[in-house]
Amino acid sequence: MTTPLAALDWPVRTDRLELRLARSEDAAAIWPWYRLPAVQEWTTSWHTALEEHQAWWEDRLSLSVVGLRGERIVAVGKIEQQDAWSQADMVEQARGQQAELGWVLDPGVHGQGLGTEFAYALLRLAVEGIGVRRVEAHCFADNLASRRVLEKIGMRLEGVHREESLHRSGRWLDGMSWALLAAEHRDQQR
Ligand SMILES: CC(C)(COP(=O)(O)OP(=O)(O)OC[C@H]1O[C@@H](n2cnc3c(N)ncnc32)[C@H](O)[C@@H]1OP(=O)(O)O)[C@@H](O)C(=O)NCCC(=O)NCCS
Repeated sequence: MTTPLAALDWPVRTDRLELRLARSEDAAAIWPWYRLPAVQEWTTSWHTALEEHQAWWEDRLSLSVVGLRGERIVAVGKIEQQDAWSQADMVEQARGQQAELGWVLDPGVHGQGLGTEFAYALLRLAVEGIGVRRVEAHCFADNLASRRVLEKIGMRLEGVHREESLHRSGRWLDGMSWALLAAEHRDQQR
């Protein structure tokens, strides 16, 4: 039995951030930094106009969480609850048993440990809040900052996928899959 993201006890506070569910108006608030090359270098989406960005954001509201430092949104994350793969007769038991995590920080606050703090909060929300049994995350192997965040929050590298992903630079890049079981997360906290 899992609890939907929207039904968790919001807001959630970490040492320096306040996390809450995303709202429509957040799209415009994050646009000034979300559009920057340092961010878009590694994001899946790529928008040149606020209208496109707003439409993309609306589609993601149900899985998006924002992190505020004071009044300002400095972090955007996703917790996408997913069905685990299963044999056909076990579909019901596998439903919603895992979550994919992702994060993007305002470049203005990079390098202060906030990415790690935010990512760890997302991990805890997925495992301790929603109650999934496994979390996953994916990154380009060249994204050293995100790799380091993944290591620091205790996730395990499960695979390096050779030239799996086409980057908008035109290069085929290695992709990486990371995961952590809820049981492993609990062991790490002991
Ligand atoms: C990845 C990201 C969230 C990190 O945010 P951050 O607030 O700077 O992260 P932190 O300050 O918590 O620290 C990140 C760690 O990565 C390291 N790091 C940062 N940039 C690095 C780089 N270019 N090469 C190697 N390590 C790097 C930091 O030194 C730190 O490790 P340390 O504590 O051992 O020194 C941020 O860079 C970002 O939003 N990037 C663009 C979007 C993105 O890549 N999202 C993830 C897609 S998978």
